[in-house]
Amino acid sequence: MVSRVTEELLKWDREHMVHGRWPVGANNGIITDKSHGIYFQDTEGKEYIDGASQLLCVNLGYGQTEIIEAMLAEMRKLQYGMLFHGFSNVASIKCGQKLSELVPEGLNYFNFTTGGSESIDNALELARFYWRAKGRNKYKIISLYDSYHGVASGGLTATGVGRGYYDKSAGPLVPGSIHIPSYYCYRCMFGREYPDCNIQCARFLAEVIEKEGSENIAAFIAEPELGVGGMIAPVPEYWPLVREICTEYEVLLIADEVMTGFGRTGKMFAMEHWGVKPDIIAMAKGITSAYIPFGAVVFSNQIWEALKGRSLTTYTYSGHPACAAAAIKAMEIYLRDKVVENTVKVGKYALERLKRDFEPLPCVGGVNGLGLMLGIEVVADKATKKPFDPQLNIMQKLQDRALEKGLFLRMADIGGTPSDRIVFAPPLIATTEEVDKALDILYPLVANLKYGE
Ligand SMILES: Cc1ncc(COP(=O)(O)O)c(C=O)c1O
Repeated sequence: MVSRVTEELLKWDREHMVHGRWPVGANNGIITDKSHGIYFQDTEGKEYIDGASQLLCVNLGYGQTEIIEAMLAEMRKLQYGMLFHGFSNVASIKCGQKLSELVPEGLNYFNFTTGGSESIDNALELARFYWRAKGRNKYKIISLYDSYHGVASGGLTATGVGRGYYDKSAGPLVPGSIHIPSYYCYRCMFGREYPDCNIQCARFLAEVIEKEGSENIAAFIAEPELGVGGMIAPVPEYWPLVREICTEYEVLLIADEVMTGFGRTGKMFAMEHWGVKPDIIAMAKGITSAYIPFGAVVFSNQIWEALKGRSLTTYTYSGHPACAAAAIKAMEIYLRDKVVENTVKVGKYALERLKRDFEPLPCVGGVNGLGLMLGIEVVADKATKKPFDPQLNIMQKLQDRALEKGLFLRMADIGGTPSDRIVFAPPLIATTEEVDKALDILYPLVANLKYGE
């Protein structure tokens, strides 16, 4: 039984509010109300460990008062300052300067947005603007089947998860989009095994560019590690090969670091794992640790030079001073508190425990991921990799049971993603003790997962 106040709020919510990836007209009965550290509380005072940083965005955890103070100070000074018509504002300039300390060398040019979907669509537009500025009509975009790139039209079109559904319900999507198999080895679309596969998924990109004609291809976009698809990292050869192919065929490489950026994988930006420099990076989420909506598109000197003197697309809230102030403070905290180093240490600890305790379980097909962006593959039959019957709704049951015990975990569900995977991605400030606390709750739930009960 919940209190009358909560029940009334829940009822109004059910009758009026839309929730992402949840049936219209329903909610899950939890209204978040307060937060601190790696925990949030509902309106009934029940506390949950945030085992997924909500949408893998609250990278610095809750209660970072310095970010709040920085936003307030900026709000008192300048409530809004557009970046349109040649105007600028101090906070957004300083934010660009701070960001240039974190991004790979040479990617020193910025367009600000208010979130991931805007960053992605802006990055795709930027790629097309670039080629037109060079006098070439390269416009097609290649992306991966198991990818997620947000819900604005360009990103939704490039997105691979739930493709048929979005095409049917929101289509027609944007023309000029091509999907190729992802780097998800466990369920390889080519039916190959690593390393004998010779990284066919990466080499296939070259084949597709040749068939479509490189003169038509503007960019290849992908996440450095698949996020919504279930926290799946590529083999080490993948990204260097893709970089080579993009360079050879004159195709821009866009890294969607909306989820992986700002330390999540144990590097400030995930592409650093493979020493690969994209032409464009799209980012959001962790840039303010989700305290306020913000995002950025960061790009190369080559693109900047080609576009000099032209007019590009941006948004009313691009470079909003309060958001920029929050981002500056968040970036200072990432550096000062050695958050990336903590992610490496705690992520290693979590992965080792997952491999030791969870991987041998009959319903676990494998565990992988980088830093604190980890995924546990849930299968009905380990030998054949057969997933549970989707009718059993196994991932929803798992999530409900974890919530009952005070743990929030995100689930990749075979209904909309390539397989059933439990996401483990707490805030990057988590300690090894907190990881144990979360995994102690999760372990019996996964160990008891038999026959989809
Ligand atoms: C890789 C990736 N790209 C883009 C997006 C879209 O970001 P937003 O929800 O802020 O629009 C997301 C969101 O989860 C994401 O994970």
